Amino acid sequence: MAASLTSLVDDLSKYGESFQVFLDSSSEHQTIKSFINGPLTNILASIGEGKPTLNVLGVGSGSGEIDLEIIRQIQLRHPEAKVDNEVVEPSSDMLDKYKDLVSKTSDLDQVTFTWNNMKASEFEKTWKERNPDKKMDFIHMIQALYYVEDPESAILFFQSLLQKNGKLLLILVSGEGSWAKLWKTFGTLFGKNDTSQSVTMGDIKSLLDSRGVPYQKYQLPSRMDITSCFTPGDEKGELLLDFLTEVQGFRKSAPPELTAAVLDLLRRPDCSKEEDGRVIFNNNLEALLLNP
Ligand SMILES: C[S@@+](CC[C@H](N)C(=O)[O-])C[C@H]1O[C@@H](n2cnc3c(N)ncnc32)[C@H](O)[C@@H]1O
Repeated sequence: MAASLTSLVDDLSKYGESFQVFLDSSSEHQTIKSFINGPLTNILASIGEGKPTLNVLGVGSGSGEIDLEIIRQIQLRHPEAKVDNEVVEPSSDMLDKYKDLVSKTSDLDQVTFTWNNMKASEFEKTWKERNPDKKMDFIHMIQALYYVEDPESAILFFQSLLQKNGKLLLILVSGEGSWAKLWKTFGTLFGKNDTSQSVTMGDIKSLLDSRGVPYQKYQLPSRMDITSCFTPGDEKGELLLDFLTEVQGFRKSAPPELTAAVLDLLRRPDCSKEEDGRVIFNNNLEALLLNP
C-alpha cells in the first residue's frame, strides 16, 4: 500500500463509522431484507429436515440487523424449532451493537447466541477443536468476503460445515455494477492490502465455475446516494468517500489528481445517474446459494 494511504479496515472502529454512513445513504439493507423475505423464504423452509434445533452461523455479521431478519424468517418457517446461532465478528463495537439489538428484540426466547469476537480465519482454526461433529443448517457471509485473506478457502471451509440440506448464502457486490468499475480502475492505486480486497461476485462465480461447484444466483438491485461526496469537508461525504475507496481519510491523504480522478469516475453515467439533483451510484448486489 502507498505509504500515505491507510486501509479503512485497519481500524474497525473507523470502518464501522463509514459503514453506518453507507447504510444510511443506500438501499443496501432494504434490498437484502426484501431478498430474505422474498426468494429466500422457500430456501429457509427447506433446511433442517424437521430437527428440533437449527444450527445457524453468521460470518461478518456486523451489528446484526440482517442476521435477526434471517432468524425471524427461519422462526416463521420452523415455528417449533429452536435456533442455535453462532456469530463471527471481529469488531467489538459491532458485536456490542448486535448484543444491544438482541436485548431490544422480542420473540428471541427460542434462540441462543454464541459470540465469536474474531476473524473468519481465526474461527476456522478453532472450530474443529471445539466442534468436531457439529454441522450447520444455514451459513451466511453477507458483504464480508472482501475482508478475508483467502475467499476461496473460506467458501470451501464454510461449505464443508453444511449439514445435508444445509445452505451457504453469499452476498457481494455484482461483478457488473459500479463498485466493480471503481475497483477495476483504481484498485492498485488505492493499494488494497490482504484484508481489503476488491473481490466481486463476478470473481467468485468464475472461481466456483472453474471448480465445477454449482450454485443458484439472484440479482439484488440497490442504489446509493453519493451526492455528499462532492462537497469537500462535508462530514458524511468524507466518510462515504472513505468507504468507497476503503482508505482512511481518503481526500486528505490521497494525491489531488487521484481524488479528482475518483470523483470524476463516480459521476460518470456508467457509474451513477443524476436524479432530482442527486448523484445515485449503482450499488447492485448478487446473492449465491451453495449446497453442501
Ligand atoms: C460490510 S460489513 C457487513 C455487515 C453485515 N453482514 C451486514 O450486511 O450488515 C462487513 C463486516 O465484516 C466484518 N469483518 C471484517 N474483517 C473480517 C474478517 N476477517 N472475518 C469476518 N468478518 C470480518 C466487519 O467488521 C463488518 O462487520
